[in-house]
Amino acid sequence: MSGPDGYGSYGTSASQMPPSVRPPLGATPQERVLPFRQREAQPEVEPAVEQPVVETTVEQPVEQPEVVMGPTGRPMPQLPTPGPRAAHDRARVISMCNQKGGVGKTTTTINLGASLAEYGRKVLLVDFDPQGSLSVGLGMNPHTMDLTVYNLLMQRDVALDEVVVPSGVPGMDLLPSNIDLSAAEVQLVHEVGREQTLQRVLAPALEHYDVVLIDCQPSLGLLTVNALTASDGVIVPLECEYFALRGVALLKTTIDKVRERLNPRLQVDGVLGTMYDGRTLHGREVMQRLVEAWGDTVFHTVIRRTVKFSDSTVAGEPITTYAGSTPAAESYRQLAREVLVRCPDA
Ligand SMILES: Nc1ncnc2c1ncn2[C@@H]1O[C@H](COP(=O)(O)OP(=O)(O)OP(=O)(O)O)[C@@H](O)[C@H]1O
Ligand SMILES: [Mg+2]
Repeated sequence: MSGPDGYGSYGTSASQMPPSVRPPLGATPQERVLPFRQREAQPEVEPAVEQPVVETTVEQPVEQPEVVMGPTGRPMPQLPTPGPRAAHDRARVISMCNQKGGVGKTTTTINLGASLAEYGRKVLLVDFDPQGSLSVGLGMNPHTMDLTVYNLLMQRDVALDEVVVPSGVPGMDLLPSNIDLSAAEVQLVHEVGREQTLQRVLAPALEHYDVVLIDCQPSLGLLTVNALTASDGVIVPLECEYFALRGVALLKTTIDKVRERLNPRLQVDGVLGTMYDGRTLHGREVMQRLVEAWGDTVFHTVIRRTVKFSDSTVAGEPITTYAGSTPAAESYRQLAREVLVRCPDA
């Protein structure tokens, strides 16, 4: 049956409309109800701009350096082998200080000094303990010393280079001491500028050396105050055992007082864990407490407990020459590298 226009009959649906009025395919239902003219007036959709083809490279995973945890429970930093000292300014003076006895002050003075000398620094060690352990530890006889630090402190006509002796380690000299120094503690009390006495007599050495290390006695008396007044930095050796932190508050107070009243340069260069035994839970717990109390002041380097240190004292030489290839010697070389990173002026 044909429709009125000769095409047969058409329904109302688009498919039933004659092709001339049928909406284009793809129009939305809303568009379909609009007359064609109106639909053409719709804003033209901008033709899609052809995007340049960006070549995508497959990202290679960046190799991260492996994080090695140190014995202090923190990631171990890289400690580069030090080059020669940049420019000779004045020596950095560092005191080994802890009023507790037997914590490794003297051992650290000898072996840190010898390691710094191995790295090309000119080092002066000052034995500032009437026990004279530093001098004995470097093979000197306390009974046959002509002049000691005592003479330098108390006699104005004695010059520094008359008292300095070679230590036996190339690049490292020693200002020796013996029991005479105990008298200085009493006699200095009556001196004008008594706290600055060591600083005054050490002044000529600062031109000549790169690092001066002062081995303090186990007390916070006038000699130790003299050492702190003459120093730029303090290293606090702490034995890794249960009572290590007892008395440390008093030491901190003393350092703060010297900084406020006598020597604004003074800073704590680091706290050094000594006689560490990482095999015991106790040793690891004490180390953890040390880091909790002192934070990043604690050196990443720790010195492990070994009889090699007593053996080298008997031999009268540093561990770096007595048993130079042992882990004990290497730990002091590592400490020297860490000190030089922390104190670029040394
Ligand atoms: N890492 C270590 N492992 C084992 N023994 C050590 C270690 N360090 C030091 N010692 C030994 O411990 C003893 C005390 O060390 P040292 O004399 O260095 O301490 P000190 O703090 O200078 O003592 P003092 O307060 O009496 O001057 C020495 O016999 C030394 O050989
Ligand atoms: Mg000592």
